[in-house]
Amino acid sequence: MGVLKHYRELFPITDATPIVNLEEGMTPLIPLPRINKRLGINLYGKFEGCNPSGSFKDRGMVLAVAKALEEGKRAVICASTGNTSASAAAYAASQGIPCFVLLPAGKVALGKLAQALMYGAKVIAVKGNFDRALELAREGAEKTGCAMVNSVNPYRLIGQRSGAWEICDVLGKAPDWHAIPVGNAGNISAYWAGYNEYQKLGKIDSLPRMMGFQAAGAAPLVTNQPCPNPETIATAIRIGNPVSAHLARAAVSESHGEFNSVTDDEILEAQRLLASEGGVFAEPASCAPLAGLMKLKREGRLPEGITVTMILTGNGLKDPNTAMSQVGKPIEINDTLEELMRVLESK
Ligand code: F0G
Repeated sequence: MGVLKHYRELFPITDATPIVNLEEGMTPLIPLPRINKRLGINLYGKFEGCNPSGSFKDRGMVLAVAKALEEGKRAVICASTGNTSASAAAYAASQGIPCFVLLPAGKVALGKLAQALMYGAKVIAVKGNFDRALELAREGAEKTGCAMVNSVNPYRLIGQRSGAWEICDVLGKAPDWHAIPVGNAGNISAYWAGYNEYQKLGKIDSLPRMMGFQAAGAAPLVTNQPCPNPETIATAIRIGNPVSAHLARAAVSESHGEFNSVTDDEILEAQRLLASEGGVFAEPASCAPLAGLMKLKREGRLPEGITVTMILTGNGLKDPNTAMSQVGKPIEINDTLEELMRVLESK
């Protein structure tokens, strides 16, 4: 039914708010028994790649676009490392309004670029990084009156709280740890707000530790200073100056959690593990939490038996190039049974 209908009473929705709906949300919380064995915990991956545009962004975009329409806005604009643009473009398309997206030129995964173009957005490649594109998008929004649908738009983060509510609704409690990749730092803040709201409503009686994971080359929340030239293979979180840094810091300190960083090699190893032992194909940024949990395990800092939810923020199909760069090629054969048998019987 989509998150606006499902959680209507928890959202700032009035009779004047159009119920926009692409059937986002209600994503699966997937148990990962083979990976549990390695880590000695009770781990679930919330696969946000099942959302209509293939990432968690849809949860907040649906509310941001609905409120923009309610406020009489007739176009939306955002800067993006890829997923926000795909999501904004999808919802704008569904409502028949123009969408402008600013992307860091040459640094967006192929699938995401294809999505924004297919949904019919006006795609603008900025010769600069995401942080600069975001500044420009904000200025463009101010000058034109377009609705700004980056996570500086409060409705984005309110919509994204629904992920935390779904986890609690399914588990019947909050997890002990909540592991999540951190880029512009909105989602970790939204989840923390969501868990707190559920506790106030009496739906859960404990709160998780918020564990935020960044890529080592773009880890301003770990180093505690902006990173002027962020670089990582996980292009979704290639961000040097997160706009919601203050909210994310509050979430981590209030929950006695931590920020940690993982290298690109660790991220890619986790991506392969999640696919080959979990059966879930998530994009590189989404695998930073698993890389981080593996690192904590090696360091002896992962408590046995705890329940951990990690947010698999985007679908692996969005970034086929990174996937193909780490796997072998198919085995090509002539169309004979002999050649097939040679392959089937080889070790
Ligand atoms: N994972 C994925 C797949 C993302 O696309 C993003 C952010 C994050 C994690 C980090 O979430 O920014 O709330 O801390 N992507 C944004 C975009 C920046 O433009 O698509 P965050």
